Amino acid sequence: MTTPSQPLTIGVFDSGFGGLTVLRALLPLIPAARYIYLGDTARLPYGSKSRETIARYAVSSARFLHQQGADLLVIACNTATALALDDIRAALPIPVIGVIQPGAQAAHTAATLSRNPQPDSSILVLATAATVQSHAYTQALTALGLNTTEKACPLLVPLVEEGWLPNPVPDTTHEPRKSAVTAEVLRIYLTEALAAAPHATTLLLGCTHYPLLKPLIESTLQSLHHPMTIIDSAEATAQTVAQTVAQATPQPTSITPICTFYATDSVEKFQQLGSHFLGQPLTQVHLIDLGG
Ligand code: DGL
Repeated sequence: MTTPSQPLTIGVFDSGFGGLTVLRALLPLIPAARYIYLGDTARLPYGSKSRETIARYAVSSARFLHQQGADLLVIACNTATALALDDIRAALPIPVIGVIQPGAQAAHTAATLSRNPQPDSSILVLATAATVQSHAYTQALTALGLNTTEKACPLLVPLVEEGWLPNPVPDTTHEPRKSAVTAEVLRIYLTEALAAAPHATTLLLGCTHYPLLKPLIESTLQSLHHPMTIIDSAEATAQTVAQTVAQATPQPTSITPICTFYATDSVEKFQQLGSHFLGQPLTQVHLIDLGG
């Protein structure tokens, strides 16, 4: 990919802010890389759109990062991975890693390590409507021998985007009435999902926005008397990327990561909400236009 003296450029792409959870996991694992992140915020959400539209948006976003010098591309978006991974791989001459296979592998490991595996235990996947309709997670998990139930949760992305969280975006006021709405929506989704998958032992967060709801998901599962192991594919994806990079080219170790961010809509909103996903302030955000 590069010579050892040249930092690897890793492109990270998401429909918006959620993929920053993947970048957050990548930074300590591959600190010597240069990162370019694109949040296609103008065209978000992808999760409610058709396969053709998602593939068109995702391929144009991936091409942009390749043009900016990406040596490797991480599709840090479940919906884009589920519906457009093959199209992106066909369009780019660089390695492309999505989130679904690493997430499925991590769920498999968790299910195998489960202290009380039951013969009919299963994985519950929460994701956007488009990801669920693609059945990409069911295919990946079935191939690993796991029973899977998928549940579409279309209201969760907008609620997270609006910051209606018990742990709100920095510099905003926590509004209990708003976070109570999110808690109630989540309770309805989980109640419906558990009715369909009463023996689920592992919960796979199949959408980049859901890690921000993890504490709420855990407390809701407790109150429903159904605790589960929760898997966030961001960490598993970062591990897969680190292994790929280590195999390809030894990287220098003593450099601070350099991150450049691109957004297709408001830079201010990207900085404010994005810092919550990344866990640190965001600088160097550039506005770009990828068309419709
Ligand atoms: N990034 C998307 C995902 O992980 C969620 C947001 C969207 O619908 O675009 O599925």
